[in-house]
Order: sequence, then structure tokens, then C-alpha cells
Amino acid sequence: AGRPHFQSTPWTNGIPQVSSHTQRQQPPALSLPISSARIHGPAMRQPREVASFSYDKFRNLHFDDSSLSYFYLLQDDVSASGGIDLSAGYNVFKKRDDTIDEHLDGMLLSLVSLEKNTGKKTTGDIITWRGIVTKLLCLPYSKNDGFELNAVWFDGQLFIEEDLPYKLATQRPSDQRSELMSYWGYKFEQIATIPKQWNECSRQEIESRGQKSVSNVAQYCSVVKTGLGDVRLVIAGEVDCVWDYKPDPKDNVDNDPKLFDNPLDHYVELKTNRVIQSDRDASTFENKLFKVWAQSFLLGVPKAIIGFRTEQGYLQTLEEFETQKIPGIVKKSKYSNPYTTWDGVDALAFLAACLQWLKTTIPRADENVVWKIRYLPRSDYLTASKTAQQSFLHPEFVKWRSE
Ligand code: A3P
Ligand code: MG
Ligand code: MG
Repeated sequence: AGRPHFQSTPWTNGIPQVSSHTQRQQPPALSLPISSARIHGPAMRQPREVASFSYDKFRNLHFDDSSLSYFYLLQDDVSASGGIDLSAGYNVFKKRDDTIDEHLDGMLLSLVSLEKNTGKKTTGDIITWRGIVTKLLCLPYSKNDGFELNAVWFDGQLFIEEDLPYKLATQRPSDQRSELMSYWGYKFEQIATIPKQWNECSRQEIESRGQKSVSNVAQYCSVVKTGLGDVRLVIAGEVDCVWDYKPDPKDNVDNDPKLFDNPLDHYVELKTNRVIQSDRDASTFENKLFKVWAQSFLLGVPKAIIGFRTEQGYLQTLEEFETQKIPGIVKKSKYSNPYTTWDGVDALAFLAACLQWLKTTIPRADENVVWKIRYLPRSDYLTASKTAQQSFLHPEFVKWRSE
């Protein structure tokens, strides 16, 4: 129960085939049309965790599960006193400086640590953050925001990062209200989790967890191997918490699928959303669910817990969603209207075409040459062009792989 069934999802059933419709305009060189190139049917490989790592509250990196959190919140606690104030402690929020460019560092250094331990190179065609793959997966349905990615072949693998200077230069200036709403998301993570399993926490630790200042500096990340069509992926992403516990790899049997306690099966994604009071609210929520699904599906996270809050930021109710059921829920929703038309099968068909395009378009022979992948807001194409930029790979990773 509660395990994701990747093999039974509809998009694993067909035979891969490229369908292309008539093109309305002449595409620029080295471009992928968002609206016409689709590879329908390739199977998403079931993600498998190969490593995990943690940033501590000082943003130091540890190749362990020290920043893993455990879900702990009861509806009764939420209902008591008419809801939990998610604005509490906003004045002492310790916010990570997101203008610091970390490139793929945490992930690449964790691969160095993994490969030193196992003596084996991590195989895969494309190595990147989960957030970047989520962007590509959602692109057919979120064409308002542009982005730039940097991509480089090294040691036979394609590494992709988001271009932070572009992101910072183009992001909408944040207003006070959106800063506060963003804080609500982190505050919810704080009150919904404890730092150890409940039976290892003192009552005092559990009860006082909402009184500490909130910080988004510490993070726990999982590195998984997955794939779509012919493209094998190594992706790392933040995991908000585990539902119960994380199986210890030392006690786990991973050569027998019947005995293997898959760590990914225990992961939970946390989100906040406004309480739903109108069709319009429902539609907004369904669009958010698309991103929740995309983000969780890629890493094999089976469950999302949504904390519904009032307009003023008081947490009211908790609701659990099984990742694999989200596309069906949205399809069946009576609120589905022209503004909520996303389709998981179609999004995956685009992602398959996109990953295949990246793997084959950027010349494999051009090792260490940085390519720019661009998407301009509301445009119909993703484009690729060569740059004179320096490679963004961490020197320690480059040294390790060059030995
Ligand atoms: P909510 O989305 O629950 O409000 P994630 O959900 O990916 O784990 O991110 C945790 C929280 O980080 C979000 O919680 C939100 O508060 C904040 N956050 C994530 N992406 C953001 C963005 N692009 N802009 C502002 N805040 C963001
Ligand atoms: Mg998160
Ligand atoms: Mg979250």
C-alpha cells in the first residue's frame, strides 16, 4: 500500500513514436518546437535513490541524512484555536541568500563521495537538478516565464544547470505580500515536521518546534537515477520529509524487489495553498497540483500533503494526495475548465522529446563547451546555441572524474 505503481501508468503502455503536426512558422536553427514535437509512449523508469545529502543550518554540506525531517502534525492540532498562524516569527526568518550561485555543487560533490565509496562511476546521460526537469516537464503548460540553462558535456555525460544571473535579472521584483506568502510555506514545513523520529524526540522537542525561528538554509536532498525513453537521468532534488522513517541501506535488501524497502516510498512533499472557496480557487489549486505532481513524480515521491490556509495565513486543514492519482483527480474534476487543461501524459511526451533533443542536439564531441538553452516567455521554441562561457562544474568533481 502507498507504493507508486510506475509500471501501470498509462504512458508506459504505448510503443514510442514521434508525432509531429504541421508547423506554422519556420523554426530557428537548433530549436525544439514546444507545441509540435512529441514522443508518445516511452516509459518513465522507476526512480531509484543512489545517494542523499544534507545542507546544515550554516549551508555546509554533509553526505548523510542529517537534515532529513519527519512528518508530525495532527489535524486536531491544526483545528485547535481556529488554525495555526503561519506568519508567526516572520520578523526573525533566516532566509538563504539565493543570489549565491551554487551551480550543481552539492549534487556533484555527493557523486564524488558516492563514487569514492563504491568505486563505480554513476552512469546516466543527463545530470541535473530535479527543478530543471520539472521546468521542462511543465513547459507546455507554463509558457509565461522564460529561462536560460547552461549545458556542458563532460566525461560522456551532459550536465545542465539553470543560469542564475539570467534568473535574477528577469524575475519579478518580490513584494511584501509574496515574501510573506513564501514564508508561510517554510513555516508550514517547520510546524509539520520534527528532526528525528517521534519516539526519539522528547515531548519538549515536539511541542516547542513551532517556537524556534524558521530557516530555509538547511535542506535534505535525494539523488535518484531515472529515465525516460532512451535518456537516462541522474537528478537530485530536495525532499521535505519522510512520512514514517527512512530505511537504512545497511539493513536493506536491494537485489530482491519483494524484500527491498525503497526509501523513495517514504518521502513526502509539503505544500501550502489557500482554502478553496470558489471555482476559481479550485482552478488555481489544480494548476498548482500540476507542479506538485511533476516535481514529486520525477523523484518518485509518492505523497504530497497540502496545508490549506486562509487568506490571512492561518493553517486550517491538511489533505493528502497520492502523486500517481493527481493527474486523474484533475481530469475528473468538475472544476476543470479552459484554465486547467494540463495533461500529465502529454507533458511527459514533451519531456521525452525534449530530453532526446538535448542529448542529440548538443554535440557530444564538444566536451567542456558550454551551451545555452533558451526559452523566451510565450515563445514556441526552445533553442540551443554555443557560448564562450567557462564550464560550471565543480573543480573537485572534474578532478575526480579526470583521474
Ligand atoms: P509552498 O509552495 O508550500 O507555499 P517546495 O514546496 O518546493 O518544497 O518549496 C517550499 C516553499 O518554498 C514553498 O512552499 C514556498 O514558500 C517557497 N518557495 C518555493 N519556490 C518558490 C518561489 N519560486 N518563489 C517564492 N517562494 C518559493
Ligand atoms: Mg521543499
Ligand atoms: Mg514543499
